Amino acid sequence: MSISPTDGIDRELSLHFLRVVEQAAIACAHTIGHGDRHKSDQAAVEAMRRTLDSVPIDGTIVIGEGERDEAPMLFIGEKLGMGGNGALPEIDIAVDPLEGTNLCATGAPNAIAVLAASEKGGLLHAPDMYMEKIVVGPSAKHAVFLDAPVSHNLKGIAKALDRRVEDLVVVVLERPRHEKLVADIRATGARIQLIGDGDLSAGIAAAVAGSGVHAVMGIGGAPEGVLTAAAMRCLNGEIFGRLVVNKPEDEARCAQMGIKDIKKIFTSEELASGKRLIFAATGVTDGSLMKGVRFFGDGMRTSSVVMQSSPHRIRFIDTIHVHNTEAIVRF
Ligand code: FBP
Repeated sequence: MSISPTDGIDRELSLHFLRVVEQAAIACAHTIGHGDRHKSDQAAVEAMRRTLDSVPIDGTIVIGEGERDEAPMLFIGEKLGMGGNGALPEIDIAVDPLEGTNLCATGAPNAIAVLAASEKGGLLHAPDMYMEKIVVGPSAKHAVFLDAPVSHNLKGIAKALDRRVEDLVVVVLERPRHEKLVADIRATGARIQLIGDGDLSAGIAAAVAGSGVHAVMGIGGAPEGVLTAAAMRCLNGEIFGRLVVNKPEDEARCAQMGIKDIKKIFTSEELASGKRLIFAATGVTDGSLMKGVRFFGDGMRTSSVVMQSSPHRIRFIDTIHVHNTEAIVRF
């Protein structure tokens, strides 16, 4: 089997990005349960920024912590990486240094540190607003449609997964805006997992067979939607998403980001169109796919997933970071 040059570069980059999300997760894991979501986020942002700057890329943040004036670091448009002298690859980066700030602050499951990267132009510059979403795994990707009735989508997913609707588990963010959605799902007999935060890690779980999650439905953040799309491109799952545009300022914000059709239903291919996508995430608190950061006397242990879209490659990586070379590594 021959290995293309880009495969080699992407393999090396994915290990660099693994290091970035590991460092962000470790930094904010020190704050788990401290009850201060801003402190948790700040720790993750600082570590992610510092580590990203040592990656051999000419990087630009396209989804980050906000605009330059509202976010001191990892703001949209910020240049990162080792340099821009033309020798290093130009890479667009979407980050969520701590997805689930409240989950970390309260020690609840499924907080993760996340990054997606692509060649220039391969990630939609989604405004920081809400997005209506449905996320499913590979078998059910042709069985759902964002505007179809909930019962129709759930019947389609159940058929694709060769089980009864009653056997499905649908993850929904617990928010007053989802009252009708929850009632509609309950009316079909399907089961629901209501989560406080973190529809991105739920979306990844929906695309991994055996995770016990079969779909994610409802309204969450648009930036999380783009990151979910990057993961879906690697996992062969699907997200359908439409921006929630209620106010004239939302419309202006979309126009500013180059989005002309505000009613458009985006597919994962459109949200993350890159030919060479890399997605990396590390568990901060314990979750369904990854364990949280565990500290011990001489270091810490992290659990991560690193994915590439081309060739499709998913790696679950368990890393032991040892400070003291004399340390004993235990399993
Ligand atoms: P943070 O990491 O910024 O706290 O966001 C977590 C999250 O729950 C996302 O997973 C989700 O997409 C979004 O917030 C939902 O937003 P809201 O809390 O405003 O309903």
